[in-house]
Amino acid sequence: MNLSFINIFLLLLFITPFDLSLAKKCFFSEKYEIHVINKLPSNSPQLKVHCASKDDDFEDYYPAINEDFNWSFCNFFDRTLFFCHFWWDSKDKVFDVFNDKEFCVRDQNVPNFSRSCKWEVRSDAKKCFFTEKYEVHIINKLPPNSPQLKIHCASKNDDFGDHYSVTDEDFNWSFCSKLFGDTLYFCHFWLDSKDKTFDVFNDEIYCVHDQKVPNLLKYCKWEVRSDAKKCIFTDKYEVHIINKLPPNSPQLKVHCASKDDDFGMRYLIINEDFNWSFCSLLFSETTLYFCHFWWNSKDRVFDVFNDKDYCVHNQTYPNHLKYCKWEVRSDGFYLEQYNPDVKQYFMSHYSGW
Ligand SMILES: *[C@@H]1O[C@H](CO)[C@@H](O)[C@H](O)[C@H]1NC(C)=O
Ligand SMILES: *[C@@H]1O[C@H](CO)[C@@H](O)[C@H](O)[C@H]1NC(C)=O
Ligand SMILES: *[C@@H]1O[C@H](CO)[C@@H](O)[C@H](O)[C@H]1NC(C)=O
Ligand SMILES: *[C@@H]1O[C@H](CO)[C@@H](O)[C@H](O)[C@H]1NC(C)=O
Ligand SMILES: *[C@@H]1O[C@H](CO)[C@@H](O)[C@H](O)[C@H]1NC(C)=O
Repeated sequence: MNLSFINIFLLLLFITPFDLSLAKKCFFSEKYEIHVINKLPSNSPQLKVHCASKDDDFEDYYPAINEDFNWSFCNFFDRTLFFCHFWWDSKDKVFDVFNDKEFCVRDQNVPNFSRSCKWEVRSDAKKCFFTEKYEVHIINKLPPNSPQLKIHCASKNDDFGDHYSVTDEDFNWSFCSKLFGDTLYFCHFWLDSKDKTFDVFNDEIYCVHDQKVPNLLKYCKWEVRSDAKKCIFTDKYEVHIINKLPPNSPQLKVHCASKDDDFGMRYLIINEDFNWSFCSLLFSETTLYFCHFWWNSKDRVFDVFNDKDYCVHNQTYPNHLKYCKWEVRSDGFYLEQYNPDVKQYFMSHYSGW
């Protein structure tokens, strides 16, 4: 039987516009419901909603907090499309709230077989309604035996309290940007009686200002590390100890350590470059590495790094490369220097055996 257009026409007349329940009963199509629930924080600005389809217009609506603004309709020919315009806190946004009979809106993961499309307008991070969603991750990459790392992160509106982080833990949160002005999160870190505070998010493009690479994923990943792979908060330094003793000379033994690292005894062959790198300490004023050298019945101990500008104190030329190169020779110890006047590197005698 041909579906009678007169019947449809009569039905459309029957369910008059501005009646929110547009369809008490659908005779030859599926009945759908749309719910728009105001889940904004109490005391937040008034939400205004204006929903419409090609045929219906619900006019401006001001839902109270937790109010469920809803309507139902018959989806003739599966062609119905409803969209809503939302205004809140001087922002606004328009999008379809129904354009797909299986998924409510296209490109969703889970079909809604109940034909009830439930929308919530929220300010929290589950879903950012008016703004971008960002994530901040603070990952503890300190060695397992290192002191307890304590983290306290907060913004103007959120305070996550003291957090005691274990190695490899990903302490993270998400938020919607620019809720009430510029978003800024900062963290206070404590480790081993030292502490440091800085912003972990203050820039929607770069996570924090003055970075080189924009963060297009809106995913700000921080790592707290002691090792040298990547120095996120601080400068990376390298120390090289090169055995430049004459061939066939007695074995050179080296034992280098800092307060936190101990590289154990090393037996360097001729021309071997024993090296390590580290991040200048985030939580302390001075990083200090020292080495004990044994050769040919002599031994010497001294700092090989105790100064972030000069490698070791009291040098003539600052080390802009943060690369401290030592050579062990038969007449003593040499530290590489750069002479800016002649623009040349040279090995400078530092001390005898
Ligand atoms: C749908 O809206 C009506 C008012 O139009 C309201 O009385 C009802 O509680 C709402 N439905 C739900 C599930 O909250
Ligand atoms: C699907 O329908 C159920 C039942 O009413 C509802 O709770 C849920 O929120 C709906 N899902 C979507 C994505 O609208
Ligand atoms: C984010 O933190 C939660 C605990 O709040 C944790 O379960 C989750 O694994 C973390 N995310 C990632 C990517 O590790
Ligand atoms: C640094 O040490 C590693 C071994 O730990 C070695 O492979 C590398 O060649 C050394 N670096 C240089 C520049 O010699
Ligand atoms: C070497 O440097 C240290 C630290 O900067 C300083 O206290 C000391 O006086 C200096 N010694 C000489 C001889 O310049």
